[in-house]
Amino acid sequence: MFPSDLSPERVRSLSEARSLGRIVEFHRVVDSTNTRARDLARSGSPEGTLVLADAQTKGRGRFGRSWVSPPGVNLYASLVLRPGRAPEEVLGLPLVVGLGVAETVAEWAGERTRIKWPNDVEIAGKKVAGVLCELEGEAGRVEFVIAGVGVNLNATEFPEELRDRATSVRLATGRVVDRAVFCARLLERLEKRYESFLAGGFRSLQDEWNRWHGLSGKRIRVVRGGETVEGVAGPVDVRGRLEIRTAGGSVHVDGGEATVLGGGMRDGA
Ligand code: BTN
Repeated sequence: MFPSDLSPERVRSLSEARSLGRIVEFHRVVDSTNTRARDLARSGSPEGTLVLADAQTKGRGRFGRSWVSPPGVNLYASLVLRPGRAPEEVLGLPLVVGLGVAETVAEWAGERTRIKWPNDVEIAGKKVAGVLCELEGEAGRVEFVIAGVGVNLNATEFPEELRDRATSVRLATGRVVDRAVFCARLLERLEKRYESFLAGGFRSLQDEWNRWHGLSGKRIRVVRGGETVEGVAGPVDVRGRLEIRTAGGSVHVDGGEATVLGGGMRDGA
């Protein structure tokens, strides 16, 4: 038996996406949908294959963190993408996925929805969704990208350490979300944005992305590997890099973790 609001049949029948999510593998419990999707991709599963789980035992986040994944309430989804591009051409893809997630969250949560660069989605400054894109390939060629999306939809409780910086769509809006409906809308949004990205690169989505930019104009610190940059966040550029206006001039950073200095948006959950 599937949980009542989340089954592969419901997701497929509710979604009008043509390529993403036509093949759906559902797990009541899995270690990580990203790990399972990676295994499927390695054994040849086609672009658009979707792995969904009701719960994860080893949900993974960025920077080696774990992703809290209780049963029955949230969305844990991973898509196999085969963009057929060189690694440097897919740098903007995680931002494109974040854009699709933000647009979908906003259908429930409205204009309080923002993206915290590079791809956290927040409602009123609290993290509601995260994206983990993992790439495999060799010698300048991308074999596949696993786009993993975790969205806190109906969770009403969080571990103590996340309580003041994480939220769910339900907590933020009072609305209970049908997970299959949300997932179907997400697939449609992602497909549209992914197609634009393949046709025109991140450049074609740059302006749209900047409209959702939650850090713009804020004083931030970005830690990227061993490097730290502090300054005022500007827009993202044609490659999805964040402009930071520092005392010594503008720099563009292509990844890392941003922290708002002196209040406002917070670290990712
Ligand atoms: C982050 O913000 O740190 C990224 C979180 C990504 C979590 C999702 S849940 C579905 C997929 N499977 C995983 O193990 N991780 C991603």
